Amino acid sequence: MDIKTYIEQNKDRFLSELFELLRMPSISADSAYKSSIEDTAKWVKESLLKAGCDKAEICPTAGNPVVYGEKHVGDNLPTVLVYGHYDVQPAVPLELWDTDPFEPVIKKTEIHPDGAIFARGACDDKGQMFMHVKALEYMVKEGKLPCNVKFMIEGEEEVGSKNLGAFVHANREKLKNDIILISDTSIIANDVPSVTLRLRGLSYVEVEVTGPNRDLHSGVYGGAVQNPVTVLSQMMAKLYDDKNRITIPHFYDKVKELLPEERHMFAQTPFSLEAYNKDLGIAEAKHEEGYSVLESATIRPALDVNGIWGGYIGEGAKTIIPSKAYAKISMRLVPDQDSKEVVDLFTQYFEQIAPKGVTVKVKDLSGGPAYAMDIENKGYKAAEKAMEKTFGKAPIPAAEGGSIPIVALFEKELGTKSILMGFGLDSDLIHSPNEHYGLFNFFKGIETIPYFYEYYVKSE
Ligand code: BES
Ligand code: MN
Ligand code: MN
Repeated sequence: MDIKTYIEQNKDRFLSELFELLRMPSISADSAYKSSIEDTAKWVKESLLKAGCDKAEICPTAGNPVVYGEKHVGDNLPTVLVYGHYDVQPAVPLELWDTDPFEPVIKKTEIHPDGAIFARGACDDKGQMFMHVKALEYMVKEGKLPCNVKFMIEGEEEVGSKNLGAFVHANREKLKNDIILISDTSIIANDVPSVTLRLRGLSYVEVEVTGPNRDLHSGVYGGAVQNPVTVLSQMMAKLYDDKNRITIPHFYDKVKELLPEERHMFAQTPFSLEAYNKDLGIAEAKHEEGYSVLESATIRPALDVNGIWGGYIGEGAKTIIPSKAYAKISMRLVPDQDSKEVVDLFTQYFEQIAPKGVTVKVKDLSGGPAYAMDIENKGYKAAEKAMEKTFGKAPIPAAEGGSIPIVALFEKELGTKSILMGFGLDSDLIHSPNEHYGLFNFFKGIETIPYFYEYYVKSE
């Protein structure tokens, strides 16, 4: 039976299984969901066994467990390692969801006229990860699995994969592979398929600015004592210059420029600035001088304040100079920036620009380097052919601005490249209220994956 027929005959079951997975609130950021994390890991393990893995297990780590599964076909055949994550982002603010984030429903949208599944994790990454489980089920049942396959599905991606480095290092032999396949990224549009060649890295810090040893009366002390909230705002305003470049000294030292032909290749990505601004409800996007808006969001570094707090925010007026102010700051990195080094550069600069009347502390929360590969890679070519087969047109090589910290680490520890063959859309609202995943995308992913295996094994 061909994959299309198999999907047609099993559609409803695939969806009801995915819905079970989506009903589990496996939020890694919040320890209140610990038991759901465990239930979800168990569920994923069972689904791998049901799909035809010879063995599957839950591997404890210092944090959330990793689910590992494998199906061995032959000693002389190549091995594909599938990576994904079963944890999800918090669903808050709940009041902005039109439906319950953990009770999936199918609704039609303008971009998804055939319907989309609305739930936290529908696209990032449960829906995309589960496509691989169902593709495996097809290949095993129909005797069409052409090589060995290993699955490594983690539960801490959304909080920076802190314990995964040690796990991968300790399990290098077990995870040994020829190519890694990941669906946790986007295509440009449902009629413009793409394969992701680049991801940005990340340095994430939390800063604390302390002024006086207690909250003070702003009438008694105002004008004479540094206010940490004011100081933090002033410091953050200094982090970009008027060319939209980050001002931290030596920040760009290790930034590798793209080759002109690479830059040209990524510039072929269809992009409408007008549609971009309209979608976001902004009058104008910004960009680094000398680079386009799309380049600024993909192949160039960025620094963003993710949150800022301090002082009195309750009802009415409370006249104080707060003792402390805080902010969370993400820096998106490109090759060959080192995430620890960037945190050091940030810290030095932050300490340097702080006025004497305050002290600052910088906490390194998580991070990882950027990732880049080229179109000559055999795995890329297999993904290209597979997508061309199922979409009816060749995919575009794309650079994306998000981060999957483990991808660069896989390369370092296991020596193999990751093929980023995702099927989401940027408009799917991942990390936002009303996250969804198109039915077209879900089934197209299941349809495409077996071709990846076929073409990859043929090219080996
Ligand atoms: N799947 C995303 C990364 C992504 C999204 C890549 C869209 C390309 C396009 C992943 O789950 C994610 O959200 N990563 C975090 C990393 C962080 C939590 C360490 C990110 O990019 O902020
Ligand atoms: Mn993801
Ligand atoms: Mn995510």
